[in-house]
Amino acid sequence: MKRKPVMAANWKMNKTHIEAQLFVEELRNRLKPDAPDKVDIVICPPFTSIRTVQTTIDGDDLGFGVGAQNMHWEDAGAYTGEVSAAMLAKLGVKYVVLGHSERREYFDETDEMVNKKVQAAIEAGLTPILCVGETLEERESGVTEEKLARQITAGLKGVKPEQMKTMIVAYEPIWAIGTGKTASPSDAESSIAFIRGCCASISAEAAEAVRIQYGGSVKPDNIAELMAEPNIDGALVGGASLDAADFARIVDFA
Ligand code: PGA
Repeated sequence: MKRKPVMAANWKMNKTHIEAQLFVEELRNRLKPDAPDKVDIVICPPFTSIRTVQTTIDGDDLGFGVGAQNMHWEDAGAYTGEVSAAMLAKLGVKYVVLGHSERREYFDETDEMVNKKVQAAIEAGLTPILCVGETLEERESGVTEEKLARQITAGLKGVKPEQMKTMIVAYEPIWAIGTGKTASPSDAESSIAFIRGCCASISAEAAEAVRIQYGGSVKPDNIAELMAEPNIDGALVGGASLDAADFARIVDFA
């Protein structure tokens, strides 16, 4: 089955709303107008820039998608500092990164919390980008697959096959994030094929449809070899997504 590539920019805690607007305008100028027909392009700014990014995209009819980097699983309530899926959906947000390793590590997000977020996102009509990945220690001690299986099984608990089909999973080995050490295309492919296998134990048909990205030091000069692997459907890009010229080259990998 042919899956449409999806390239997502995860800006993390970077860019003011002014910088965000300039980025989107520069990205538009660097890409051909038909780029979104070939690749789904997703910009995940901080919450404070979502409105700006969304209006710039819509105003110019650019066909890029807007994503958030996190959300709470409740619709509303006394959760100071949090933002709900319903609020994001109202802003025109279509995607949400969930369970990023930085959220798991610095904000103590558990598999159970991530699963509640996945379910709430789907309920609100958002496409979750569910992040999974092993630490260097786990890779070296040979428990990568065990960790991935646990994160996938727990993260997708209660998700129906029709819902899984439209989801995105991001395989991000933690040792490759922000370190300049990219997983080799064959290592990334083998972990991603393993993840697709875990999805297949829920539904073989949905596992063929779910898009699985690689993330971790993706750059303009390594994206093509990663995308040449049969199971890699795109990338979740941190550092290199802060520069419109670099991100445009990643989107335009072919
Ligand atoms: P990086 O980050 O591209 O800077 O390694 C990727 C991510 O954390 O999503």
